[in-house]
Amino acid sequence: MSEVLVETASVGVRLIRLNRPEQLNALSMSLRIELAQHFRELTADDSVRCVVITGDEKAFAAGADIKELAKRTVLDDDFDRATQAWRAIENCHKPIIAAVNGFALGGGFELALHCDIVIAGVGATLGQPEVRFGIMPGASGVQRFVRAAGKAASMRWLLSGDRMSASEALRLGLVSEVVADADVLTNALALAAKIAGHGPLAVRSIKESILLGPDAPLPVALALEKKAFQLLFASEDRTEGIEAFLEKRKPRFKGK
Ligand code: CAA
Repeated sequence: MSEVLVETASVGVRLIRLNRPEQLNALSMSLRIELAQHFRELTADDSVRCVVITGDEKAFAAGADIKELAKRTVLDDDFDRATQAWRAIENCHKPIIAAVNGFALGGGFELALHCDIVIAGVGATLGQPEVRFGIMPGASGVQRFVRAAGKAASMRWLLSGDRMSASEALRLGLVSEVVADADVLTNALALAAKIAGHGPLAVRSIKESILLGPDAPLPVALALEKKAFQLLFASEDRTEGIEAFLEKRKPRFKGK
């Protein structure tokens, strides 16, 4: 059985399910490589407008596979293999929504932090416990955490390795929304369907501006935003979007 399952949830929406339930969806190297390959394919597929990634009711992902980590040596090729796998997710220009139930720990939390929107169930447990194993987050868990939650909270949570509740993660800006556990996937898929119905060029430009802007000096970020805004006026989607509003009908966006 494949460790990653992909299905079409609705028009333009792909649902990725991590599928190692017996190991709480721990991220083995084979799972990461499979996941990365799916991301490369989804990124290249114009019919895909939004991606939802989830685990199961017990775990989104309980981190790196600790049995594999136990064997890893300092110059292991797995460090580079893992980086390549994360890159495939980073390089996806389409919105990615994490639907998180249960545990999202270590590499599992880093996976959620790679996503653009995180919808967590009220019973979810999140955190970066790496320090407990004598290591630290190494797949952007430190940098993404501090950019979202700031220094004080990052020191508190990353140095202790404590697990946090979904409501704490929401308070810190690490997740987007907390809902009843039973509603996580439904809400994530409904949001994905809404995003998939918008013009892909506009969606792509907004994602890019949000991700790149905060690390650029403000005048550069503002120029990037204005340029992206201006460029959308050359698109057929902009003409269609405005005409549809004036004609009181639903727009038919083509991504052109
Ligand atoms: N790697 C491999 N196997 C894991 C695992 C992981 N990260 N997490 C859980 N499992 C396995 C367990 O070994 C167990 O398997 P067996 O039945 O064969 O023993 C099975 O999943 C169920 O786990 P538990 O019996 O422990 O379930 P629980 O409900 O009692 O506890 C838990 C759940 C609190 C999440 C506990 O499993 C746990 O603490 N897991 C480790 C979580 C963690 O610390 N992750 C971070 C890893 S480091 C990392 O991620 C850094 C990086 O990217 C490089």
